[in-house]
Amino acid sequence: MKFFVDTADTAEIKELAATGLLDGVTTNPSLIMKAGRPMKEVIAEICDLVDGPVSAEVVAMEKDAMLAEARELTAIANNICIKLPLTLEGLKACRVLSDQGTQTNVTLCFSANQALLAAKAGATFISPFIGRLDDIHIDGLDLISDIRQIYDNYMFETEILAASIRTANHVKDCALLGADVATIPPATLKALVKHPLTEKGLESFMADWAKTGQSII
Ligand code: G3P
Repeated sequence: MKFFVDTADTAEIKELAATGLLDGVTTNPSLIMKAGRPMKEVIAEICDLVDGPVSAEVVAMEKDAMLAEARELTAIANNICIKLPLTLEGLKACRVLSDQGTQTNVTLCFSANQALLAAKAGATFISPFIGRLDDIHIDGLDLISDIRQIYDNYMFETEILAASIRTANHVKDCALLGADVATIPPATLKALVKHPLTEKGLESFMADWAKTGQSII
């Protein structure tokens, strides 16, 4: 499973990239707003920090305007992935970009039919939003499972990028269901390593090691 980080905070991305566990980055207009910096400057900096796909989202509503924005964004770096909304105009733009060999991430997916359309439009990634479905009492994980089955039935190559992840359990459950990628907020990604028994065990190993009076080097 690939791990993307869902943020436009370059300090966080730098720290996580140094772990060697990061396969890409996703951003959206809200995350750019939170970063408080010019979009193209932030995206360029992120593309320098990670080799994998960096999703940059268009904000136009109509296909040709989306494609014009996509041209601006793809000029920033080779690893730009164009994020498009799950609308008919977004799918039309997705088809054009896919045919040109540009990576695409179709976002704001809340149904299996929407995911089917994105795969037919040649999307590189489909982003089902788990947390926002959970927020309205619909099980977001059921959507991941449905999309996995549909994509496997027809051997679609579109990768399932589980988004709107809120908890460490979301990551584990998406991995169990066969999502190809999880895009995870920095704090949740860092929390994955933590287990109280690991901390307790390490503490006791270190205390016993100190008693031996030895050193390895
Ligand atoms: O980047 C899209 C998605 O991950 C947003 O998550 O927490 O705003 O629903 P959230």
